Amino acid sequence: MKLGVNIDHVATLRQVRGTCYPDPVQAALMVEQAGGDSITVHLREDRRHIQDHDLPRLKSAIKIPINLEMALTEEMLAIAEQLKPQYVCLVPEKRQELTTEGGLNVLENIPAIQQANQRLKKVGIELALFIDPDFAQIEAAHRCGVPAIEIHTGAYAESENEAEQLKEYDRIKAAVSFALSKALIVNAGHGLHYENVQKIVQIPGLDTLNIGHSIIAQAVLDGLENAVRKMKSLLS
Ligand code: PXP
Repeated sequence: MKLGVNIDHVATLRQVRGTCYPDPVQAALMVEQAGGDSITVHLREDRRHIQDHDLPRLKSAIKIPINLEMALTEEMLAIAEQLKPQYVCLVPEKRQELTTEGGLNVLENIPAIQQANQRLKKVGIELALFIDPDFAQIEAAHRCGVPAIEIHTGAYAESENEAEQLKEYDRIKAAVSFALSKALIVNAGHGLHYENVQKIVQIPGLDTLNIGHSIIAQAVLDGLENAVRKMKSLLS
């Protein structure tokens, strides 16, 4: 199973202070060095983390594929056509949300998604749709002709007790198997961390797990001791 690392929150840290550090492109190079299989970035409409100018720098710096997450808008489609990342993942986007809450409603957007798929395919981009583990949405994704889906694991990750988590896990497992029967490439992600990823890894047929927040959070703690020592040495 491959690991796609979402580096949005390196950029979040930069944007809250308006500095030029930490640089998400430098983070992407470190991910590549550590064996990450792809880099995910979400260019949000409100530009709260990744900025437009990060994209071409990222494209020229790394060798592993870029997975550009974006809303289905004309602005984003034009950016994707110009950047030509290997993958685009369409996500629903609300301005007020903390992160992507819930999957895309493919059923209600079939013509627009079909059109987007045609446009992106022309420039060699493989399109995925970020959807809940729901058979009707998977069936609709199949009808759109997209090569891939990403199953939203948020409900599993945020479940409050074991019974609920098991129910969500079974939903994901069934959804993955249904999507594979439709010959879709199946990725998954959202809210995964060192503890809850173990069970997801056991689901056969998953291609890539896209994980961001928990990895960047762990990196802050793993790097803090070094960072303090470096500053102390400058002070002495
Ligand atoms: N996949 C998609 C489509 C997402 O929108 C996100 C969050 O940006 C992730 C994966 C990663 O989620 P997390 O940051 O919770 O690991």
